[in-house]
Amino acid sequence: MTISIRDGRETDVEGIAKAHVQGWRESYKDFLAPEALAGLSVEERMQMWRGALAEPEPRAKLLVAEDDGGEIVGFIRGGPIRGEGAELLGTEAEIFALYLLDKVKRQGIGRRLMRGVFDHLAAHGIRSVGLWVLRDNLASRCFYVALGGQPGPEQSFDLRGQMVAEVAYRFELAPQL
Ligand SMILES: CC(C)(COP(=O)(O)OP(=O)(O)OC[C@H]1O[C@@H](n2cnc3c(N)ncnc32)[C@H](O)[C@@H]1OP(=O)(O)O)[C@@H](O)C(=O)NCCC(=O)NCCS
Repeated sequence: MTISIRDGRETDVEGIAKAHVQGWRESYKDFLAPEALAGLSVEERMQMWRGALAEPEPRAKLLVAEDDGGEIVGFIRGGPIRGEGAELLGTEAEIFALYLLDKVKRQGIGRRLMRGVFDHLAAHGIRSVGLWVLRDNLASRCFYVALGGQPGPEQSFDLRGQMVAEVAYRFELAPQL
């Protein structure tokens, strides 16, 4: 199977929302309560992604990983930092979401998606990127360390009625010459 990486576009909203819900169900089954995962809705995610795609922020980047049958099997979105936890993260930009379906993990796609967003941010003069990951999500934490991330502060928050702990990772981007 060939996986291509390309910019996300408005017609991808449903495909991204489906990958988002499936990605959560596959990847978070050991960390989140079954009721929380069962309650995820593709429709709700579609609304969220419509909003994100309508955002006129040229420094933000949404990339999708698509298989040769046209299925979106992963995606990443990053951009200038905003919202809750921004101060604690202390970086110029943030990776807001990164998910792959189980069937395409461990083939270098996560690395390609991160590289694509990092290159875009660096080209816009951004030098530091942070993200939050579930503290129990050791596989993803290993991935971030393998890519050069440095662990940072922790925070807890209420995720669909369940208190979860997250840890921050920080990446320094080399200036683009
Ligand atoms: C985390 C994630 C994006 C990694 O993507 P991926 O394509 O599977 O990872 P890659 O193949 O690019 O791996 C790059 C390196 O990261 C490390 N790594 C990746 N997955 C790992 C794992 N499960 N355990 C240990 N190390 C891992 C390895 O060093 C790997 O290099 P190698 O394969 O040559 O040994 C993907 O597993 C995923 O979507 N996970 C579920 C969702 C999630 O947790 N998202 C993050 C939310 S903050």
